[in-house]
Amino acid sequence: MCGIFGYIGDKEALPFLLEGLKKLEYRGYDSAGVATLDKGKVFISKCLGKIVDLEELLRQKPIGGAIGIGHTRWATHGRPSHINSHPHEDCSGKIVVVHNGIIENYLELRRALADNGHKFTSTTDTEVIAHLIEDNMDGSLLKAVSKALSQVKGSYAIAVISEHEPGKIVIARHGSPLIVGFGEKESFVSSDIPAMLKYTGRIVHLENGEIGEITDKKFRAFNLDGRAVNKKVELVSWDPESAEKGGYSHFMLKEIHEQPNAIRKTIAGRIEAESHKIHFDELNLTDEEIRNVNRVVFTACGTSWHAGLVGEYLFEQYAKLPAEVEYAAEFRYRHPIIDEKTLVIAITQSGETADTLGAVWEAKAQNAKVISICNVVGSSIARESHGVVYTNAGPEIGVASTKAFTTQLTVIYLLAILFGKRRGVISDSEAVKLIGDLIELPQKIEEALREEKVIEKIAEKLGKVTNALYLGRGKGFPIALEGALKLKEVSYIHAEGYPAAEMKHGPIALIDKKMPVVVLALAGRRYDKILGNVEEVKARGGIVIAIASDRDSALTEKADELIIIPKTSEALSPILAVVPLQLLAYYIAVKRGCHVDQPRNLAKSVTVE
Ligand code: AGP
Repeated sequence: MCGIFGYIGDKEALPFLLEGLKKLEYRGYDSAGVATLDKGKVFISKCLGKIVDLEELLRQKPIGGAIGIGHTRWATHGRPSHINSHPHEDCSGKIVVVHNGIIENYLELRRALADNGHKFTSTTDTEVIAHLIEDNMDGSLLKAVSKALSQVKGSYAIAVISEHEPGKIVIARHGSPLIVGFGEKESFVSSDIPAMLKYTGRIVHLENGEIGEITDKKFRAFNLDGRAVNKKVELVSWDPESAEKGGYSHFMLKEIHEQPNAIRKTIAGRIEAESHKIHFDELNLTDEEIRNVNRVVFTACGTSWHAGLVGEYLFEQYAKLPAEVEYAAEFRYRHPIIDEKTLVIAITQSGETADTLGAVWEAKAQNAKVISICNVVGSSIARESHGVVYTNAGPEIGVASTKAFTTQLTVIYLLAILFGKRRGVISDSEAVKLIGDLIELPQKIEEALREEKVIEKIAEKLGKVTNALYLGRGKGFPIALEGALKLKEVSYIHAEGYPAAEMKHGPIALIDKKMPVVVLALAGRRYDKILGNVEEVKARGGIVIAIASDRDSALTEKADELIIIPKTSEALSPILAVVPLQLLAYYIAVKRGCHVDQPRNLAKSVTVE
């Protein structure tokens, strides 16, 4: 999964390309490169490493021109190397391509092109596209790209420039995102919106199977068989600052602190002040369709899957609907038993996760109703779903998902109440109470964030641990999983989330004085059982870090560390309890000198299977 950026206008392209690529580095950062057209000639500069390495290369040997494309890579085919970095060129060096995605039939295409005399330099799938365009070049770059892509199977978002037609950038997408932005006298192409927000909020999303041509005067879109497509310009309301760090050391910390306002934005405009009626404009489900649902399947990956697990509990509790959560990659390949009465809810921050997109396609193929909970307007999964509820969390740049998760839980909570009301299984007064609890939640998260210094001190002591166990019961169990994932992905410490009751069936053998055990000691009917688990851990010399809503004397005596969160309803406790776990993972990672916003081997949105 990679980042693409392009510029065409009346200024030197290079500064825009480098600035855009820096904002896209979270999508992949093992190599980078740019290409420009200057006086009709192509110039390329690329290298192994990050954008800073490319900048150094360009300081020594700059390239000029008012048209350019750039790329930051997360390797899929062809190991990270100089020669495998993008842009890639055809035999003549007159056609240059950057690509995000996977060409699944690249080997057979490569063989056929080599048999036809083409010489390859890299081991990537992308280079095949450059030679295919060359093979089809017959006067029109747009047509050559279109013919080339008609032979390609797989996912792509590409930008192409060429000496054959030096005044334009040709773009195309299928399965990987690509957005065009329109400034005053310039246009931009990008894999995501924040990379060009500083210059424009006027954008169009290229749809799957579309191809486009951008000159300094206009933008035209077509589908692959050449029919013109009329694209509506959307205005993005994100301000540029919201995509910057805002004074925090890392995007992750900024986004943890943004959660109270992010949840306020998620709720805004969706709850009527007096009646507390719930409205989701783009849900596209009539009351009758809601009542026709007899089962809910959540499907997602990673942190979003954890949100689905909480959703399972909430839908069964408030909508009185059987619910389950499926890993997207498993769901799409195991012949799931679903039908028109099944509601599949895809949960995804990026809206571009390939496995989740595949699960949506599978659900639609089996006539299920599909809605998605998504953070990126107009993303692939949002557009493939029958209905969508946007989390409105604003751009989440840190690879570790934080505000996306808590706003996903907020949407799921509201949906469960909406379904419960439409199905007549919860009263208006109960719904008003539940929504009142939610409206109070943001300031409770602000209170929880005030424990930051306490958590930072605890993190100081845990910087050298090699393993950790996270335990929870009920809705605390998905949060145990999420806390463990946060620690794993940003600090590289092995951590495992487990149902607390299951500890005695195995994991208790792991407990020793080096093993920190984070316990979600959340108020509710399982609290006493959790205290018992704390006892079991302490009896074996384990270190207990308890997250609790009460400075309960029993817990205070037993736990080595106690992090207090404000009281809230049992249903909303997962949203509150995850905040200290996000901070704990963050500060341990910082202590260990890890690259918090761009952890090794990870990418923000995994647009490959
Ligand atoms: C979360 O911290 C991870 N970065 C990862 O598990 C992520 O949740 C997963 O890749 C799904 O991404 P999505 O929500 O954009 O679909």
